[in-house]
Amino acid sequence: MSHEVVEKNIGLMIVLIIIVISIAGLVQIVPLFYLNSTTQPIEGMEPRSALELEGRDIYIREGCYTCHSQMIRPFRAETERYGHYSVAGEFVWDHNFQWGSKRTGPDLARVGGRYSDEWHRLHLIDPRAVVPESNMPAYAFLEDREINADITPRKLRALQRLGVPYTDEQIAAAADEVRGKTEMDAMIAYLQGLGTVLAHWR
Ligand code: HEC
Repeated sequence: MSHEVVEKNIGLMIVLIIIVISIAGLVQIVPLFYLNSTTQPIEGMEPRSALELEGRDIYIREGCYTCHSQMIRPFRAETERYGHYSVAGEFVWDHNFQWGSKRTGPDLARVGGRYSDEWHRLHLIDPRAVVPESNMPAYAFLEDREINADITPRKLRALQRLGVPYTDEQIAAAADEVRGKTEMDAMIAYLQGLGTVLAHWR
């Protein structure tokens, strides 16, 4: 009996199990690389501005993702609190995405437009000035540091190579857009741009 052969031969069984799981995995994963809903940007989306992009790099440098996720799951408790759940098309230009997995603080996927720029400034300088029970660290030093505008165009160029549709004019204008701006300006611009395209989809 052929089935008995498989059951009594553990090596053969392992090989056959690996084959079955691989096929099942491929069937599930491969189509996602080709579906429009996972590979195309959602309607109305624009690549980040140069200033927002600089803010994103500071977000990564400072490890904001160690306390904040940017991924709203499709559960009522989350959509009631944060807004429309995250969809794949919102992240197609993110290299690398900032989904995160730790929520010491709230999810930030749709924080754009929720507060004023001034609120963010005060909050980043001293979180406890606006949210007394906060345990978020202060980032006041962002005010004192200027963006290095010389390397900004190269960041846009690198993303363009990865498929983000920046035009050559946008890249040429990038340095002037961020020159003289502080890291605080960049961080606020980044936060205010988060999740705004889908924000009103409810
Ligand atoms: C040690 C954990 C921790 C780190 C690191 C951290 N945060 Fe927070 N963050 C919190 C907590 C807790 C809150 C909720 C209380 C508050 O609003 O201050 C919060 C709130 C926020 C809010 C308000 C969100 C809302 O919907 O009310 C923003 C915006 C924010 N953080 C941005 C940042 C940025 C940008 C960084 C990195 C520069 C950062 N956080 C780093 C813990 C953290």
